[in-house]
Amino acid sequence: MTDPIIEVSHVSRRFGDVLALDDVSLRVPQGSVLGLLGHNGAGKTTLINVLSTLLPPTSGTARIAGYDVVRQSHEVCTRIGLTGQFAAVDEQLSGRDNLVLIARLLGASRREARQRADELLELFDLTEAARRPARSYSGGMRRRLDLSASLVGHPDVIFLDEPTTGLDPVSRLNLWRIVEELVADGTTVLLTTQYLDEADRLADSITVLSSGRVVAAGTADELKAQVGQRSVTATFADPADAARAVDPLRAAGFAPSHDDRRVTIPVTATRELAAVVRALDEAGVEVADLGIGEPTLDDVYLALAHHSPAAA
Ligand SMILES: Nc1ncnc2c1ncn2[C@@H]1O[C@H](COP(=O)(O)OP(=O)(O)O)[C@@H](O)[C@H]1O
Ligand SMILES: [Mg+2]
Repeated sequence: MTDPIIEVSHVSRRFGDVLALDDVSLRVPQGSVLGLLGHNGAGKTTLINVLSTLLPPTSGTARIAGYDVVRQSHEVCTRIGLTGQFAAVDEQLSGRDNLVLIARLLGASRREARQRADELLELFDLTEAARRPARSYSGGMRRRLDLSASLVGHPDVIFLDEPTTGLDPVSRLNLWRIVEELVADGTTVLLTTQYLDEADRLADSITVLSSGRVVAAGTADELKAQVGQRSVTATFADPADAARAVDPLRAAGFAPSHDDRRVTIPVTATRELAAVVRALDEAGVEVADLGIGEPTLDDVYLALAHHSPAAA
C-alpha cells in the first residue's frame, strides 16, 4: 500500500472504567471508503473524535495525511471535513447563507464564497431550497446541507458518522449517490454505520468494531468468505423430483434440506458445485432453476458478534 491517508496505530481511549477503544489499528488509502461497522457503543464515534482532533487518545497514535492528530492538530483540521460539528449550521440562516458564511470564515473572498456555495447547493440538489431558512428543511435536506457545509473547504478526508441513520429510503439513496460522487473525485471517506447494506454498497474495505476492539477487517467479499458457507438452491417444476433428489445428494456427501419444490444444499467450496450438479444429473431429475446464495454481511455480522464475548 502507498502511504495511507488515514493511519491509526494501536489507539486506545479510556473513559473512567470504560475502554471505548482497545488497541485499534487501521489504514485507509487515499480515495477509498472505509466502513466502520459496529453496534451502538462499539466505539465508532470515539474513533472519529480522535481522528478529528476533538479527543486525544489515551495511548497509541493516529495520523491524517502524515500529520499527528495530537501534535499537529492544526494541519489535520485543514484537511478534514466533519459533518455537523466544525461546520455547525445556523438554523435561522438560509442554506446558501450558511455555506457562504463558512466559506468566508475559511478565508474565501465574497465572490469565491458565493461560487462555492452555489456549486455545493447544486451538487446536493438544494438549489431550490437555497434561500429558505435551514430550520424549514426536511431531515434528508438537512443532512445534505450538513454534508455540504463540511465540504466547503475542499477537505481531503471526510468523516461521516452514521450519515443515514433516521433517513427515509429515498434520502438514503440520494446520500449514497453523493458519497459515491465525492469518492470518484478523490475524497477519502471514513463512514460509520450500523447498516450492513450501507457498508456493502459504499465501502472499499470494512472494519468491524465490537466493544472497542477490531474483530474483523477486509473487503465485504473477504468478510463474507470468512463466514465460509454458501448454499445452492435447486428448484424443481415437479415436487416429486425434489423429493427424489435428496437421497443421491446425501449419498454424495451433502446435507440437503427439502421443502416442497426446493432443495437447498450447503457447500463450502466452489468445486463442490460440480459435485452437486453431477448428483442431480445422476438422480435423473429435472431441475428448473439452480441458484447460488452468497452469504450476506448480516451473516458475517452475526457470526462475528457470536465470537466476541462482550457483544451480548
Ligand atoms: N465522553 C464520554 N464519557 C464517558 N463514556 C463515553 C464517552 N463517550 C463515549 N463513551 C463510552 O464509550 C463507548 C463507545 O461509545 P461511542 O464511541 O459513542 O460508540 P458508538 O459511536 O459506536 O455508538 C460507550 O460505552 C460509551 O458509553
Ligand atoms: Mg456513535
